[in-house]
Amino acid sequence: MSDSVHVLGICGSLRSGSYNAALLRAASELLPQGMTLTLHDLRSIPLFDGDVEAAGLPASVVELQTAIREADGVLIATPEYNYSIPGVLKNSLDWVSRGKNQPLGSKPVALMGASAGGFGTVRSQLALRQVLQALDARDLQRPELHVGNAGKVVSPEGVLTDEATREKIRAMLAAFALWIRPSVTA
Ligand code: FNR
Repeated sequence: MSDSVHVLGICGSLRSGSYNAALLRAASELLPQGMTLTLHDLRSIPLFDGDVEAAGLPASVVELQTAIREADGVLIATPEYNYSIPGVLKNSLDWVSRGKNQPLGSKPVALMGASAGGFGTVRSQLALRQVLQALDARDLQRPELHVGNAGKVVSPEGVLTDEATREKIRAMLAAFALWIRPSVTA
C-alpha cells in the first residue's frame, strides 16, 4: 500500500459556473502533503433505468465505480436542491450502488457544499449522509464544511477567493487525510 492518499472528487452540479465545482478546484490547491485529488465528471452518467441495467452496466457507470474503487477516499461537493441532493448526484450514486461489490462500502467519504443562500447545504448534506449510510460508506463527521452566500466568496471567474473558506477546506482535507491514513503529514 502506498503512503499517499488518493481522493476522487465528485461534484453534484454540472453547470460551468458551479460554486461547488469552485470548491473542488480550490481543494485541489489546498491538499495536505501526500494527498492527491482527481475530479470525476458525472455528465456522462445516464438516467437510471432497470432495463438498461439488465442489459449491462453502462461504461460510464463502470468507469465511475472503478475510479471510486481505486481511490482511498471520495470528496463530494454538493449543492442543495429543494432541501436535498441534486438528482444528478443521487442518480449517479444509485448507479454506483448496483452490481457486485459496490465500491462505496467502507469507503471514506468527505462532504462539502456551497449554496447561493445562507444555509450552505446543511440539509442536502444531511440527505447525502442518509444515502451514504445505505451504501455503508464511512462519512467524515467533522469538520463540517458549509459554504453559504457563495456568490460572495467565489469570483465571477469561478475562483474561491475567500481566505477563511480556503482555510476551512485546507483543515477539512488535512483531517480527512489523517483519518484515512494517520501516517500522512497534515
Ligand atoms: C436551488 N437552490 C437551493 N439553495 C438552497 O440553499 N436550498 C434549496 O433548497 C435550493 N433549491 C434549489 C433547487 C433547484 C432546482 C435549484 C436549481 C437551485 C439554489 C442553489 O443553492 C444554487 O443554485 C447553487 O448555486 C447551486 O450550486 P452550483 O450549481 O453553484 O454548484
